[in-house]
Amino acid sequence: MSNQGLNVDLTMGTTPNLSEAYFSSGEASPASRFTVVSPGRVNLIGEHTDYNEGVVLPMAIEPHIRIEVTARRDRQMVLRTVWEGEPLVAVDLERPLCAADYHGVWTAYPCGVLACFQRLGWEVPGFEARISATLPAGGGLSSSAALEVGFATVVEALCGRQLPPAEKALLAQRAEHEFAGVPCGIMDPFAVTFGRAGHAMLLDCRTQALRYVRLATETISVVIVHSGVKHRLADGEYAKRRAECASAARLLGVDSLRDVSPARWKERQETLPLLERSRARHVLTEHQRTLEFVEALEAGNWEVAGERMYGSHRSLSEDYEVSCGELDLLVGLARGIPGVFGCRMTGGGFGGCVVALVSADRTAAVGEALRKGYKEATGLEPAVVVTRAADGAHVAFG
Ligand code: GLA
Repeated sequence: MSNQGLNVDLTMGTTPNLSEAYFSSGEASPASRFTVVSPGRVNLIGEHTDYNEGVVLPMAIEPHIRIEVTARRDRQMVLRTVWEGEPLVAVDLERPLCAADYHGVWTAYPCGVLACFQRLGWEVPGFEARISATLPAGGGLSSSAALEVGFATVVEALCGRQLPPAEKALLAQRAEHEFAGVPCGIMDPFAVTFGRAGHAMLLDCRTQALRYVRLATETISVVIVHSGVKHRLADGEYAKRRAECASAARLLGVDSLRDVSPARWKERQETLPLLERSRARHVLTEHQRTLEFVEALEAGNWEVAGERMYGSHRSLSEDYEVSCGELDLLVGLARGIPGVFGCRMTGGGFGGCVVALVSADRTAAVGEALRKGYKEATGLEPAVVVTRAADGAHVAFG
């Protein structure tokens, strides 16, 4: 194992202005009636590396959250969803919004974002928002970042100004930390902000350098299967993993696991308690696997890319202990299906989804075989999603 691959070229790709068509002059007149489309994301590889300042390879996906907005003349934010039984919520934007008022409720996401804009001194006008989604909540496909970045995009359009995209993503992360109580990394809001159709994104979570990696959709496809097990990151296991990594870094004498050189790892790994040793081993090998996956993807070497995915899953399951029986089952099933190059759990873990890299001409057959196999073994009907990489959150009129 080594992390020498870190000197792989991570030169900053162009950071697109995501609403370029509308905000071409940087400033625009405030919009009063518009729709924001904000995608979910799937992470192809690089799991639990973002908060260790490593690299990740997510892509934005077609399932998304849709926010239809109409400006109001007062300072009320009125939120409605299309879900039955969900009451309408009205929030006074004149008052500073406070995290304690939104503990454990979905409005924590929009209100967290609005609170961050309040702190920046933005005077956000009142508006009504109608929210619908093709993205499942709690599926590990980043519905929370989709809501947060989506609402940040709503605020930008209402105010007729924009934050630099990376700042917008970091604002969404702050909202998640403070209002949803999840100490997440930067991967999800960056994926939702910077998504580009047809591409995955190699993001260096230390420098925030971003390189787009084209996905050869004529040859490969991405199949996501939802285990039906709800994943919950606020329950504490996620925070625990972060703390264990911080403890491992301390014991290894570095600020972040990103700084552990192969020589130091070789020399010091035996001195670590077992728990810290296996957590650090996952992070260091995952970082390396991600770089190798990208190299294989760019060379069209699907078998090697697929093996890195299986390796990632094993490491997440055994060393990092964030998988569960249902996810392991899906990955095991995938291994036996012709046309699957690789498969792994994706996202924070403890339920949610697996992602598979599949030969494009076998996409439908693979989806069906996974559905059938999972149903036979568990009695549960999994949701199978075939998706291309999509654009990041943006304003669409009409
Ligand atoms: C969640 C977090 C991310 C990342 C992943 C694990 O999705 O929001 O920041 O840490 O888990 O890779």
